[in-house]
Formats: sequence, structure tokens, C-alpha cells
Amino acid sequence: METTASALHHCKFEVPEIIFGRGVLSQVGSCARRLGGKKVFLVSDEGLFSAGWVDQAMRSLLEAHLSFVYYDQVSPNPRDFEVEDGAREYIRHGADVIVGLGGGSAMDAAKGIATLVANGGRIRDYEGSDKIHRPLPPLVLCPTTCGTGSDVSQFAIINDSERRCKLTIMSRCVAPDISLTDPDTLETLPEEYICTTATDALSHALEAFFSVASTTLTDVNAVRALRLISRSFVKAVHEHRPEDLENLARASLHAGMAFSNSLLGIVHALAHPIGGLYDANHGSVNAVLLPEVIRYDLPVVTEKLPELAYGLGYAFPDDEKGAAEMVQETIEKLLDAAGAPRSLRSLGVAREDLPSLAQNALKDICIITSPRQADEKDLLSILERAY
Ligand SMILES: [Fe+2]
Repeated sequence: METTASALHHCKFEVPEIIFGRGVLSQVGSCARRLGGKKVFLVSDEGLFSAGWVDQAMRSLLEAHLSFVYYDQVSPNPRDFEVEDGAREYIRHGADVIVGLGGGSAMDAAKGIATLVANGGRIRDYEGSDKIHRPLPPLVLCPTTCGTGSDVSQFAIINDSERRCKLTIMSRCVAPDISLTDPDTLETLPEEYICTTATDALSHALEAFFSVASTTLTDVNAVRALRLISRSFVKAVHEHRPEDLENLARASLHAGMAFSNSLLGIVHALAHPIGGLYDANHGSVNAVLLPEVIRYDLPVVTEKLPELAYGLGYAFPDDEKGAAEMVQETIEKLLDAAGAPRSLRSLGVAREDLPSLAQNALKDICIITSPRQADEKDLLSILERAY
């Protein structure tokens, strides 16, 4: 596939060690052990405990002759105080390695705890880009949803409970040492979460692909993710077939590698303040915003549309207008067929909050790499169309 000349400039691509495959959760103990751990701080949640995955991870830790402390005080959209409590528990028990098992919430909480045990202070001290100065303890992240990408990314998103906003922490320090994906864990994920987390992966892939910081290496991963999502998203949601779930797990990984290196755009810049204010599901918010942001971005990304069309499984049409329409239509059909929510109103967003949400999105770090430079008016009009 051809790439643009600009994509070859300053190419830098960083990813953790990656282990992927059915049944690899049994290797989590040996991973923690070879990172030098003796006492593991295992972060997960109640849902995964009930589904039996926490038990499997614990068995693997014991088989590797490691002791562990289990911490499950993590909400969806993890709170600052949960991360701060977790750090105190880690220190109190003398743990020396962290394993995060779960969706974005458990993994981001693990990242936040690791940040605090090594650097002290409060989690809000690390908001923004490159604010972490001391290296984190060894970190193994095991995703159990099909979208977050947190297991390979340099982002951690934590809710500031006092200011009711999301703190975006961006640092190479929060990328884990090992990303371990066992697609079998998706088989107990409820349909609704397959839909919302795969929508998150779809947003990651598209935003990474359109990002002004995209490179050959991020593009190849974004396109691969899009191909897998277009092939398996709807079937995975409605039929729950293991091969489609595995494709979505793989797509999440590829999209994660892409966005961690090229960053994101307006969907995430708007999704963060909305998620912070309403405690809304991240994937659902993305599903609503994505079609409107694509409509806004398409006029400035026409030269990348052939590759995108290929990613979505089409031959490229002759004219750019046709390609843009095709991309727009494909994404909307995919979201509709998977049953994704389609309006901000249905997520409980109040119309009178739209202006302040647009203002806050301008301060989010994800806005920097948007292919089209948006001002407050543009963002407000995207929100109004998505309302
Ligand atoms: Fe996301």
C-alpha cells in the first residue's frame, strides 16, 4: 500500500512486549516473575471475578510461586480516590509488581496506582503530557474487552471526582512492560460491552489513521484494525462466535498500537469531558460522536481515503467524493447494525452543557493531533449534530 511522503518523517514507534492467544492468561504468573516480582498487586473487578478469570490469574501466580494482594475497588471510569487507595494498599503490603486484568478501567487504575507508588502525590498531579519523572514498578496488563488499547498505550484516564472531569495522563512511563491478551476472556463479556468496546477500537483506529502524527507504522496497524472490525464487529455482537471475538481482540491490539503512537483526535477530545461530567460509558459516547467527527474530518483527509477504503474491505472508487460518502456510510451502517447508541440525548447529556463541553474539549490533549483544526464553534456544532 502506498503511504504519503509526510508519513515517513520522524517515524517513531513504541510498543510493549506483546503476548496474544487463547489460553495465554495461564502465563501471567511467569510474566510477573520474569519482571522480578515476588509479591503481585492484582487489580481487577467483580465482574471478572464472577466470570472466573481472576481465579485463573491467581492460579497462574501461585504456580509461578508468587504471593499476591487482590484489589478490586475499581469503578467503571476509575476514580482518583480509588487509585490513591490502591497505591496505599500496594505500599502497605510491600508489593513489587502490578498486574491489571480487565477493561480500560482496571488497566488504567493499575497504571494510576503504579504512577503513585513510584512518584507520590495525587493522581491529578500527573495530568497532561510527560509529567511522570520516576519509572514505574513492573506492569503487566491483560485486557478482557475488545476496545480499550490501554494494554499497549501511553495513556491513562482517571476521573477527578471533585472536578467531575477526566484526567488524561500521557507518558511513555505508563505503557506496561507486557501486554497479554487472552481472547477467551471475551466469551463472558456481555453483548452490550462487546458493542461499546469495539466501537472504542473503531474510533481509535480511525482517529489514529487521520491523526496529523500518523506514520507508516501507525497506518498499517490502524488499517489492519479496521479490516478486522468491519469483518467481525456485527457478528461478534449478535452471534458471539469465538473467531469473531478473537478478531475484535486482535483489532483492539492493532488499534491500540496505532493510537498510542499517533495519538487521537476530536472524538476523544469531546468524549473525555462528556465521560467526566456524566460518568457515561466511553464507547457509547464515541459511537455517537464518531459519524459526526468523520463528516467534519473527511474534507481534509481525502488523500488517505484509498487506504481507508481498503481497510474497510472495498476497492477504491474513482472519485474522492464517492470515497468519502462510502466511508461515511460504511461506518454508520456498522454502528447501526451493531446496535450502538446514536444520540447524546439518549446518553443523558443535557443540551445546556454543550457549550462548556466544547470549551473543555479544546483543552484536551487529543485535540492537538486532529487533522482539522477545530475552534469552539466547530466543536459545538459537532455536539449539536450528535445531540
Ligand atoms: Fe478510547
